[in-house]
Amino acid sequence: MSTMRNARIISVGTYVPETVMENSDFERFLDTTDEWIASRTGIRQRHIVSKELPTPASHLGREAALIALKRAGCSPAEIDGIICATFTPDYFFPSTACRIQTELGCTRAFAFDVGAACAGFTYALTIANSLVTAGQYSKVLVIGTEVISKTLDWTDRSTCILFGDGAGAVVVAGSETPGRGIVSSYLKSDGALGDILVLPAWGEKRTMQMKGNEVFKHAVRLMTDASEKVMAAAGLSIDRIDYFIPHQANSRIISAVAEQLHLPAEKVVCNLERFGNTSSASIPLALDEIWAAGGISDGTMALFTALGGGLTVGSVLVCF
Ligand code: UT7
Repeated sequence: MSTMRNARIISVGTYVPETVMENSDFERFLDTTDEWIASRTGIRQRHIVSKELPTPASHLGREAALIALKRAGCSPAEIDGIICATFTPDYFFPSTACRIQTELGCTRAFAFDVGAACAGFTYALTIANSLVTAGQYSKVLVIGTEVISKTLDWTDRSTCILFGDGAGAVVVAGSETPGRGIVSSYLKSDGALGDILVLPAWGEKRTMQMKGNEVFKHAVRLMTDASEKVMAAAGLSIDRIDYFIPHQANSRIISAVAEQLHLPAEKVVCNLERFGNTSSASIPLALDEIWAAGGISDGTMALFTALGGGLTVGSVLVCF
C-alpha cells in the first residue's frame, strides 16, 4: 500500500531590523497620538529599516531563512526551491527569491517571487505544498519579507502608522507521516476590489493608498469565510484548532474574525503590538512566537488566514 506524501513545516526563522519606531514618534510630525494608534489598531511599535541606507527585502529574508535552515538542520545545498512572498522586492527582476538564493548558496534550487500582498505567505505556502506533495521536490524555503516603510506616504496618518518591516521563513519538507503537514488550503482573489488598497508601480504617486474602513470590513468578512472553507475542506470543526495565526493587520480585525469563528481568545495569536503590519512576514513572525515558547509539538493544529491587496485571501490549515 502506498503512503500519501505530505508537506510539513519543519522550522521557522524570523528577522526584523534593529530600529524601533514607537507610536509616540509619530506625534512629532503627524496629527496623531499613541493612544489613538494603540486603541484603534493594537499596535505600539514597529521595526523599520534605516531611511538613509535601507536594507533590501532580500537581506531581511536571507537572515530569516538562515535561522530557519539552522533550526531545520538543513544545509543550503539541500534546498530544492525558494518561494518568496513580497510586495517590496529589491528589483522588478531579478526576483528577491533569486537574490536570496545566491546569498544563501542554495545552488540546486529554483527561485521565484509571489505577489499576493499581505496574503502572500499563504499563497507561497500553498504553492510549496503542491510542489512537495507532488513528489518532485523535497525541501522548499517559503519566505515572506517586506520593507514596507519605503512605500509609505509619511504624511498620511491613516496608513503610515500601521506598517513595519521584517521577514519570516519556514522550511517545508516532504514527509510520509500520515495526517501531518499542510492539511488543506483555500485561496481566493477579488480583483474588482483592487482599488481599495494599492501601491502603484508607475506614475507620480508611488506610495501605498488605502481606504482603511473598506479594507477593514472586507478583511473581517473574507478572512472568516476563508477560515470556514479551509476547515470544511479538511472535514474538521474549528474546535480542533490549537492556534489561530492570522495576518497581523489590526487587533480589531483579528478579534472580529475570531469572534465570528467562535474561537476563544487564548487560541488567537496576536503580536502586532510589537511589529505592526509586516504583510507577508506577519504570519511567520507570529508562528515563531508560539514555536519559541514551546507551543508547537507533534499534532498541534494551526490555522493561518490572511487578507491582502488584490484583494487576495488565503487560509492554510497545518498539523505539525
Ligand atoms: O494588511 C491589510 C491592509 N490593511 C488593513 O487591514 C487595515 C484595515 N483598516 C484599518 O485598520 C482601519 O480602518 C484604520 C486603522 C486604518 C483606521 O481606523 P478606523 O477606525 O477605520 O478609522 P476611520 O478610517 O474610520 O477614521 C476615523 C477618524 C477619522 O477622522 P474623522 O474623519 O472622523 O474626523 C480619521 O481621519 O480617525 C482619523 N484618523 C486618525 N486620527 C488620529 C485616521 N488615522 C488617524 C491617526 N490618528 N493615525
